[in-house]
Amino acid sequence: MTDFEAIASALEERGFCVVPDFLSRSEIDFLVEEFDACPDSEPAPRTKHGARHLGDQPIDRRTASPAGPGQTAALRTTAVGRKETFQGIRPRMEAFARELTGAKAALYQILYLQTPVTNLPVHQDHEHFFLTEFNPTHLNYWIPLVKPSRTEAGRHLIPWDRLGEKSPRLFNLCRRSGASFMRSLRDGGTVYMSDWSGVHWVEEDFEIEDAMETPEVGPGDLLLLSLNTIHATQTTDDRRLAVSLRTCDPETRIDWHRVAGISTPAMMRHLAGQNPLSFPVFQHIQENDFGSTLGDIVPTLTGEGE
Ligand SMILES: [Fe+2]
Repeated sequence: MTDFEAIASALEERGFCVVPDFLSRSEIDFLVEEFDACPDSEPAPRTKHGARHLGDQPIDRRTASPAGPGQTAALRTTAVGRKETFQGIRPRMEAFARELTGAKAALYQILYLQTPVTNLPVHQDHEHFFLTEFNPTHLNYWIPLVKPSRTEAGRHLIPWDRLGEKSPRLFNLCRRSGASFMRSLRDGGTVYMSDWSGVHWVEEDFEIEDAMETPEVGPGDLLLLSLNTIHATQTTDDRRLAVSLRTCDPETRIDWHRVAGISTPAMMRHLAGQNPLSFPVFQHIQENDFGSTLGDIVPTLTGEGE
């Protein structure tokens, strides 16, 4: 029996929760097969790190070792779920979200992330925050599908309770906000940069690593995060394939000003680069008289509206 109350209170107090064996073997296999069939979400990554690794040999889905004939799962840039992926996994994801939040739930994004292509520094997510702002029904289900080691290629997390103890200022800046980066400074201390408000803050006596936790997870385990939980890629030495699924209350109103009017460099890059989440939302709201809910744009985001 899933203890939804315990999960909800962990999300509130810490910002994350591990649910072991969330996916069955057949659900893992389904999502890996869909990865091979899904389109890339963006053109090749512009980072040197990603570009260096793309074009590597295909790997075996289950062991992440070099693949034999017929085994694909080649290392590639980020991919997004297609219509069939949504239809296969939606019922159980939305039922879980409804039980947990007590609100309606819509699965609106399926994003595959591979290491070593993906290697993200400490941040709060950007495009998802631009979409709904802080919203407790907005959840991020990060699930490894191919992961050779339980202790490597996972996610570093900054629990809210530890951040609150070590740096009340950063806690207050981040707890109800999002779309930010944090970096360690060479001479010690941490700089916080918000791409939502433009605020920069240097916390001189705080090292972000001192607040980090890195849960051990294997294929099919769920690492459930709130929309704005601070996180980073752990290591990229192993080849790991994970999927990130997003649910949120479909009645959440999408604010045109928030999506289009944020003139930070990060937001301009998202729109100008035709980011797969921000750009369709931008277009949809413009075409619908500036009044849309998340539910209105779900068919566009999932490919089911075509
Ligand atoms: Fe992220």
